Amino acid sequence: MSLIHRAVAIDGPAASGKSTVAKRLADSLGMVMVNSGAMYRAVTWQLLQDGVSSRDEGAIVDAASKMEITCGMEEGRSTIGINGRFFNEELRSSKVNDFVSSVAAVPEVRERLVKLQREYLETSDIVMEGRDIGSVVFPDTPYKLYIDASEEVRRARRAADGEADAVAARDAQDSQRKTAPLRISDGAIVIDSSHLEIEEVVEAAKEALKSLGWEDLS
Ligand code: DC
Repeated sequence: MSLIHRAVAIDGPAASGKSTVAKRLADSLGMVMVNSGAMYRAVTWQLLQDGVSSRDEGAIVDAASKMEITCGMEEGRSTIGINGRFFNEELRSSKVNDFVSSVAAVPEVRERLVKLQREYLETSDIVMEGRDIGSVVFPDTPYKLYIDASEEVRRARRAADGEADAVAARDAQDSQRKTAPLRISDGAIVIDSSHLEIEEVVEAAKEALKSLGWEDLS
């Protein structure tokens, strides 16, 4: 791990509020917010485009290995491009939601994306959110948070966003896979956001970082 740059690792299940907290924290601390889920989603989008089946792991590995993946940063946020195409809202489509956990379970895909995720720390202080950030991507960072929320609240949040997303099914797949399953990593502080306003979650996250040893935090 870089000795110069700091990484805040935020993990948690789908729709737990971790992206919003990660963005607010990154802005408030002058860091870059890296959305690792967008990387898995972009690979998934391209696999759908290529007509690859979610059940054919060999075809996923083969097609993914041929993709040119470009990770960047723009205005304090990570960006992701595949074969020169950069993505936005299309990564939240129900087709991507349905397929992404199968893609994220493939070890070869994870290995490639984890390497790209670690490269962010070579140039920037980052707040990275995902499923395995504290356990696999940056196991040495002392700043690990796990943002949780009840399944009911998470389903309601997705519905309020107008997004079709079977959060429970996705969580089950993400928690039960063999490689880098979603779990609370050692040393992480858990924040339950079910009944908190976003500002309260951000405050709780800052308090947690202080108790994890972050000294110069306002
Ligand atoms: O955070 P998200 O819902 O956009 O992530 C989409 C999927 O990507 C999620 O269901 C599991 C996978 N993912 C992962 O396996 N590891 C990460 N670090 C981030 C996301």
